Amino acid sequence: MTKLWGGRFTKATNQLVEEYTASINFDRKLARYDIIGSMAHVDMLASCGILTHQEAAIIIEGLNKVDYKIECGKVELDVGHEDIHMNVEQLLSKEIGPLSGKLHTGRSRNDQVALDMRLYLREVVVDMVEQLVQLQQALLTQAKTNLDTILPGYTHLQRAQPVSFAHHMMAYVFMFQRDVERLQDSFKRINQMPLGAGALAGTTFPIDRQQVADKLQFDGLCENSLDAVSDRDFVIEFLANTSMISMHLSRLSEELVQWSSTEFNFIELDDAFCTGSSMMPQKKNPDVPELVRGKTGRVYGNLIGMLTTLKSLPLAYNKDMQEDKEGMFDTAETLKGALALFAPMIETMHVNKEAMYKAVAEDYSNATDLADYLVGKNVPFREAHAVVGQVVLHCINKGCYLLDLSLEEFHQFSDAIEEDIYEALTPESVVAARNVPGGPAKNRVQEQFLSAEKSITAS
Ligand code: ARG
Repeated sequence: MTKLWGGRFTKATNQLVEEYTASINFDRKLARYDIIGSMAHVDMLASCGILTHQEAAIIIEGLNKVDYKIECGKVELDVGHEDIHMNVEQLLSKEIGPLSGKLHTGRSRNDQVALDMRLYLREVVVDMVEQLVQLQQALLTQAKTNLDTILPGYTHLQRAQPVSFAHHMMAYVFMFQRDVERLQDSFKRINQMPLGAGALAGTTFPIDRQQVADKLQFDGLCENSLDAVSDRDFVIEFLANTSMISMHLSRLSEELVQWSSTEFNFIELDDAFCTGSSMMPQKKNPDVPELVRGKTGRVYGNLIGMLTTLKSLPLAYNKDMQEDKEGMFDTAETLKGALALFAPMIETMHVNKEAMYKAVAEDYSNATDLADYLVGKNVPFREAHAVVGQVVLHCINKGCYLLDLSLEEFHQFSDAIEEDIYEALTPESVVAARNVPGGPAKNRVQEQFLSAEKSITAS
């Protein structure tokens, strides 16, 4: 097969080399972006007098046809033409003949591929923000319907202090808000236009880079031609931001899995989001959160892979950089799939308020509040802590909870305890008492609703 770059070669490429060096099997995903970029490039070449307007019109019409044919799968993309850029050019030559050879004037595949990647990624980022916002809204809706639902908050996975389920859901809303903001911030670094950098040292043609940037709605131009073709920071940043999103999703997944167990029984995921067992008829498995948790591995792997590929690469382009695509596509698709499921799964999740309440009531998670009560009666906190430790030990030995003790029993440990202790130690009072900004008291959680809603609508 004749290569676009075949002039200085006297032998055909070894078949295995051809297959090994080709990227068409994965960079075909860039076809649409490649063609959009080529159209803007040709348009600019004409307005700068490098091509005639008539030539540009024919090339653009040809590119439209190629675009259509690739979209409908009417053409073969060929490993012999290595990558999407050369495949498109070949297909164009079939449409319009030798004039297709003028398309690549003043351009290299090195700046072309950088352009395609940026065009692709900026769409992915915008869609991902949209999906994250939908997830935040689902979490917020669950929070609002569960303002009064009390469950144990945990540290070390041991019951620690009661919180509301609303408070717990809001923690995730804020995590995903930071994720949204990180993606949005990264957009300005993705949205810089590399075309015009050529292979590495720009071009001798009097091109107008700004015109291409304007046409393709870039925020600015990559400012150094060597950097423009060598930079994959924007890919790494995307892989890092998505790793963080995956980590957040994985923590939430882990909680959903635990909460769905008979041991917790705090939630039940809707049947539509669970699967069964081929052997055990009673099973209803939380496969979706498990798989989301599991896929965090590949998302992290893609980040580490890309960081390692770029490490030690000399300037400017090196073929190693062709390895930038599969991880990026894989992460984008992995996250897209997870986020598409997560919002409706959270929305339809059933919250077992009674089981949550029982877990709080049948526990010692109000012990801090007994200590705080004693502090209110002028007992130093350390002393109060020790006294309550004794009370808890007494209860454990007796097989009861703090609220089951009589006033006489309390008095064996401290005279400062009075009748009002029974009101102070109910789960409701314990949550309500945590009335600091950011705390779980109802009005504080409502403040969180307002603040989150504000940021979400601004996203
Ligand atoms: N397929 C190549 C890549 O993805 C395009 C750039 C090739 N440039 C080159 N000089 N071989 O990196």
